[in-house]
Amino acid sequence: MTDKIAIIGFGNIAKAIITPLLDEKLIKPDDVYCVVKTERSFENIKKNYKYNINVYQSGSEESKIIWDCKVKLLSVKPQHLKDVIEVDDIKIKDNLIVSILAGVSINRLTQKFPNHKCVRVVTNIPITIGKGLTGIAWGEDLTEDQKKFTKKLFENTSKIYEFTEDYLDIFLALTSSGPAIIALIIEALSDGGLSGGLPKILSEELVMEMILGTTSLIKENKLTTSELKNLVTSPGGTTIAALRVLEKKSVRSALIESIVSASNRSKEFR
Ligand SMILES: NC(=O)c1ccc[n+]([C@@H]2O[C@H](COP(=O)([O-])OP(=O)(O)OC[C@H]3O[C@@H](n4cnc5c(N)ncnc54)[C@H](OP(=O)(O)O)[C@@H]3O)[C@@H](O)[C@H]2O)c1
Repeated sequence: MTDKIAIIGFGNIAKAIITPLLDEKLIKPDDVYCVVKTERSFENIKKNYKYNINVYQSGSEESKIIWDCKVKLLSVKPQHLKDVIEVDDIKIKDNLIVSILAGVSINRLTQKFPNHKCVRVVTNIPITIGKGLTGIAWGEDLTEDQKKFTKKLFENTSKIYEFTEDYLDIFLALTSSGPAIIALIIEALSDGGLSGGLPKILSEELVMEMILGTTSLIKENKLTTSELKNLVTSPGGTTIAALRVLEKKSVRSALIESIVSASNRSKEFR
């Protein structure tokens, strides 16, 4: 894929992106240069990571070597971005930063890393099992090779969607915050099962299988959500009794607002 790649922040998401590429031998461990902040993470990667990659602690003299890599995956938490400082004497050309930081705009990235072209990417936690969704907004003047390389980083583990940057906040709200919303729904429905006398584990399993089955049915039979709803809602039956409660408690509106709110929060990080 490339000669060398630097990973600035080798946490959960960065590992989920890079490990499959190492598994597939698309990158060699020798060519991966990662930086982490704490000694604990540094030692942990050295001792326990399944590949023998180059690892450095941020702030150390040796860690400056990462700026010799043409491509950098930026994967620190947004609040730690201020601590990542581009070195003055970058010798190579056509440098690329692929940022997965929630909400941080291409404009801010370009100002912070003036010697780099920047790409903003939003991905989500199911990337850790190869079922992620990744949205990409390209910065200015990227070469075709840089775009191809960026897509290669994510295409093994996720479906890729290309957007203009304005759509990334709402994409993030739906896909990146979405898993937490779904987890809350699973938990709440399972508690409903628990209230009806089912053991917790069984109740949770039933809810998850029901969600998987319902999603597959909608997709495979190309149903609209209204068609699916009508299929299981008979006059005066149990389902309309359940839906009535949800409407009375404004659950639909709460879910819409939750997504708008997550998107607005993402805009605040800019
Ligand atoms: N979690 C999600 O669902 C999700 C989904 C999509 C995108 N994202 C984005 O992905 C990014 C990383 O998230 P994560 O969940 O992978 O976080 P994480 O597991 O906490 O990883 C962050 C990494 O950054 C390192 N770090 C901190 N300060 C640093 C510095 N100054 N220089 C170099 N490395 C530094 C940390 O090192 P130490 O371990 O030593 O502190 C750690 O390795 C975030 O910006 C987030 O917005 C997250």
